[in-house]
Formats: sequence, structure tokens, C-alpha cells
Amino acid sequence: MAFPQNETAIIKAFGDRFRSDANPEVYRAPGRVNLIGEHTDYNLGYVFPIALEMACYVAISPSGDGTLHAYSEDFQAGFDIPVDTLLNCRPRKDWSDYVVGVAQELLKQDVRIEGANMLICSQVPIGSGLSSSAALEVSTAVALLGSQSLQPLEIAKLAQRAESQFAGMPCGIMDQYAAVFGKEGAAIQIDCRSLTHEYVPLPDAASIIAVNSLVKHELGSSAYRERVTECRAAVQDIQKIDSSVESLRDVTPEFFVQVQESISPLPRQRARHIVYETHRVVEFAAAAQAHNLQEMGKLFLASHRSMQYDYEISCEEIDFLVDTAIDLPGVYGARMTGGGFGGCTVNLVAPASVAEFANRLSSAYERRYGMRPIFYDCKPAAGAGRVNERA
Ligand code: GLA
Repeated sequence: MAFPQNETAIIKAFGDRFRSDANPEVYRAPGRVNLIGEHTDYNLGYVFPIALEMACYVAISPSGDGTLHAYSEDFQAGFDIPVDTLLNCRPRKDWSDYVVGVAQELLKQDVRIEGANMLICSQVPIGSGLSSSAALEVSTAVALLGSQSLQPLEIAKLAQRAESQFAGMPCGIMDQYAAVFGKEGAAIQIDCRSLTHEYVPLPDAASIIAVNSLVKHELGSSAYRERVTECRAAVQDIQKIDSSVESLRDVTPEFFVQVQESISPLPRQRARHIVYETHRVVEFAAAAQAHNLQEMGKLFLASHRSMQYDYEISCEEIDFLVDTAIDLPGVYGARMTGGGFGGCTVNLVAPASVAEFANRLSSAYERRYGMRPIFYDCKPAAGAGRVNERA
């Protein structure tokens, strides 16, 4: 279905689906594009995402029958689960795991969940590296919470647990954190160890353009697990030299140079990406504050090459988009964003060059791969919350 563009449309879709005149509450949680700091979150380093205007919307009202009736417009599928059996549910390996996983986590925090009708509808493209799953988790959390309050950080953490423990994807905290704490006009520099953040305004002189390659290689989730394990192996090797090292966050570039020979070859290569990538986040934030677009662009490309050669999470189509983009006029830098193996690139482009950038990149990609990529002009947007006024 075409996404209802505004809350009136989603309220109408809700009324049609549940044959209800109830005036539902509508909540949203955004997708995100990570500007730099890839795979550093589960290594307790820094990340630097922006929340997007593209969001997942949930319309909700009490069902009065003790059952959670949820329907996803995107998957054209739904479920009905009595609230008192929610905690017994097992994962079904589909979109419903994000909803049920969040509901279980809320119950474990003693949040009251009443029977409800929920209509879910997302603008965040699935499998694109823009965090459609975190948008679904966090919008579900704020919708089920309603007027009950929970600290924002707790919402991000429970949404992450839903994904890692119930849906079974051992992700870091970045996506859920960005969906909760997003802010208009600013990137969020998150310290994934202390779970604190700073907002960093971005220079107007560059547009942030995400380019969807429309490919998502199956390898994605198994390779993600492998990377988590390889980073852990690197930490274990380093601990033989310095037992105070708890994660790759504790390894500075200087220290890495000293200890690298003691790390087995593949974990060493992975650790090199993480150590320098975390460092690049700090450098990128400083360059953004100094409005130094050349430097921001350079760091983008260094990050991409590191993902391509050291972390080995890129793929042919993404490399083609990056390599083509960086030769186009007005492009400061390009890199893959998100978990890897497809999805989107993110590009820093002079606003006056965006149209030419899109035309030329689109034609080149189509000539090579027979499909036209999709372009998103990304403006940093607000985090999760209620969309319509309380009646
Ligand atoms: C996925 C995960 C995040 C993060 C990124 C890579 O989006 O959900 O936690 O690890 O990959 O930076």
C-alpha cells in the first residue's frame, strides 16, 4: 500500500482495518542514517547518526477485549494475542517479533499493557540500512506506553533488547538510541559506553543524500554475528597483554599499533577498522563543528575503504555507488551506511549539485545493474513521540 502521508490517512486506514470509529492516538519513531562510526556501537565506541523524517507510524486505541490486535500495512499481515499470554510467545521470525519483543520487554518493566488495536505503517524502506526495525520497535514502545512514562534511555535499551534477545539479532544500541533521541537540525554523537550523547549541528553547505542500492545480500545477518565474534576475539588477544582492556573502545590508535602483532590476523583486521573508525567519529564531529566539508568528506571515504577492505562488509553495488559518486562534481564524500552488504550509501553533496549528482549516479547505476537507485534528501529530524494531540 502507498504510505498514508499524514495522520488523517493513517487514522482512516485504522478505521477501515478495525471497523472502528475510535479516534486512535498516533505515534511515530524515525529511521536513521548513520554518518560515521559503523559497527562501533557494540564495541562501545562512538557513532554519529541523524534521525530521519521517514518514520514508522503506529495508530492505537483500546480494544476492550484484553487482546493485542496488530496489523502491519507494510506486510499486509496481522496478529491477535491475548495480553495475558504475551510473555509466553516465541519468535515467529517475521516483523511481528519486533512488536511482541517490545511488548514483552515493557511487561518486564511493569508497564501495563491493555488490549489494543494497533495499525502499523512505515515509510522507512526495509533492508535499506536505514533502521526500519528500530523505527518499528521504538514506535511500538511509545504507542504501548501511551501516557505511562519511562525514561527515554530505558525505551532505547528495551527496544534493543527486543531486537537482540527476542528477534535474535545481536545489534548495538545506535539505531534505537537515534530513534528515541533524534533532534531536528543536528546529528547525535553517541558514546555507546556511557550511553550519553551530544548534539552536533551540521553545516548547511552540504546536503546529506542517502542512495538506496536496492540490494540486500543474504550474508548480512550471519556476517554481523561473525564480526561481533571476531571483535571479541581481538579483545581476548589484547587482554593477554593488558588485562584492563574490556572492549575495543579501550584501544587507541597508538596502542593498537603497539599490540597489533599479538592479535590473530582476521580479528586484527576487524579491530583495525573499529579502532580507527571510532577515532574518525571524533574527528568528523570536530570537522562538522569547524564547517570543514573537505575534511568531513575525506573521513567519509576513509571510513568506506576501511569497511570495504578491513571489515569486509561492503559489496560490489555499494562500492560502485561510492566510487562513481566521489568523481561527480560537488561531492565531498561517500560511504556505505548501516550494517552492510547492501542497503544505502550516504553522500555529502553541495546543495547546488544535488540534481546533477542524482541524475548522473542514477544513469550510471542503471547502465551497470539495470535498476535505478532511490535518493533520499536526509534532514535531521526529531526522535519518537506522539503525532496527534491528546483529545
Ligand atoms: C546495524 C545495527 C547497529 C549497528 C550498525 C552498524 O544497524 O543494528 O547496532 O551495529 O548495524 O553500524
